[in-house]
Amino acid sequence: MPSVPFRSIWIIGASTGIGHACALAFAAHGVRVVASARSQDALDALSKEAGDHADILPLCLDVTDQTAVQEALPKLEAQLAAPLDALLYCAATWNNDPSSQAKADSVRPVFEVNVFGCLHVLEAVLPKFKERRCGHIALVSSVAGFRGLPRALSYGASKAAMTHIAEALVFECAKDCVGIQVIHPGFVKTPLTDKNDFNMPFLMSAETAAQRILKGMIRAATSGQGAGKHFEITFPRRFTYWLKLLRLLPYRCYFWLVTKATRNL
Ligand SMILES: NC(=O)c1ccc[n+]([C@@H]2O[C@H](COP(=O)([O-])OP(=O)(O)OC[C@H]3O[C@@H](n4cnc5c(N)ncnc54)[C@H](OP(=O)(O)O)[C@@H]3O)[C@@H](O)[C@H]2O)c1
Repeated sequence: MPSVPFRSIWIIGASTGIGHACALAFAAHGVRVVASARSQDALDALSKEAGDHADILPLCLDVTDQTAVQEALPKLEAQLAAPLDALLYCAATWNNDPSSQAKADSVRPVFEVNVFGCLHVLEAVLPKFKERRCGHIALVSSVAGFRGLPRALSYGASKAAMTHIAEALVFECAKDCVGIQVIHPGFVKTPLTDKNDFNMPFLMSAETAAQRILKGMIRAATSGQGAGKHFEITFPRRFTYWLKLLRLLPYRCYFWLVTKATRNL
């Protein structure tokens, strides 16, 4: 694998799952990682797990607290004693309660983390990256945002919003030399999917997912910042490409197929 073109990366949602595996993967490639999430204990354990030869700095943070997010960037750049080079937003939550799908009170907490948390971070980081005319941002969305799915109203809608945000940012960031990518994983074994009570096709380990993300981010960041170049990282393709095809179906066919495929949910 080519070397990573960033000296530092801020990974948000690094206490478990994909973010945790990405923190270890970037640190193993000599990148200084600032790891954020709400659980201080898990971040300290991650830092220890990386060992003496890797650099993972824990920075406890709740992304729903906009003031704390604004204050985090200068804090972490002071810790790094250098400007931040890249951001990977992995934080997310979801609501699997089938009885509370179309209720503002059950959708709001999911949007607070997945969408507004992400916007808080972008609002803190993006002006700095633009001012410096460099920096790379990757947002972890999901294939669940491609189209409406059963039992995924709040999560799917939040991920559709994230993908939309990333797409829209391509246009404004290209002129400021800031890279933007979106990540659309299929099923990855993490505490998030451990809650699922259905069969998950092509389930991947968090470590394999992290390698795909690492490779995809290196590829985009080393290939020059043409608008939207290598914009999407998606895996496993034999699953996610089928879901892309479903996006093209007329509603009638789409609803028929998905109803059939998910009738045991
Ligand atoms: N696993 C999959 O199959 C899959 C598929 C498609 C997309 N994704 C996406 O991949 C990303 C990572 O998911 P995952 O499966 O690794 O889930 P996970 O293990 O549940 O990780 C979620 C992370 O978000 C952090 N987090 C949650 N609320 C937060 C808050 N308010 N402030 C700061 N951090 C917060 C959690 O840490 P704390 O609880 O310590 O705060 C944790 O580190 C998510 O965006 C998810 O939507 C996952």
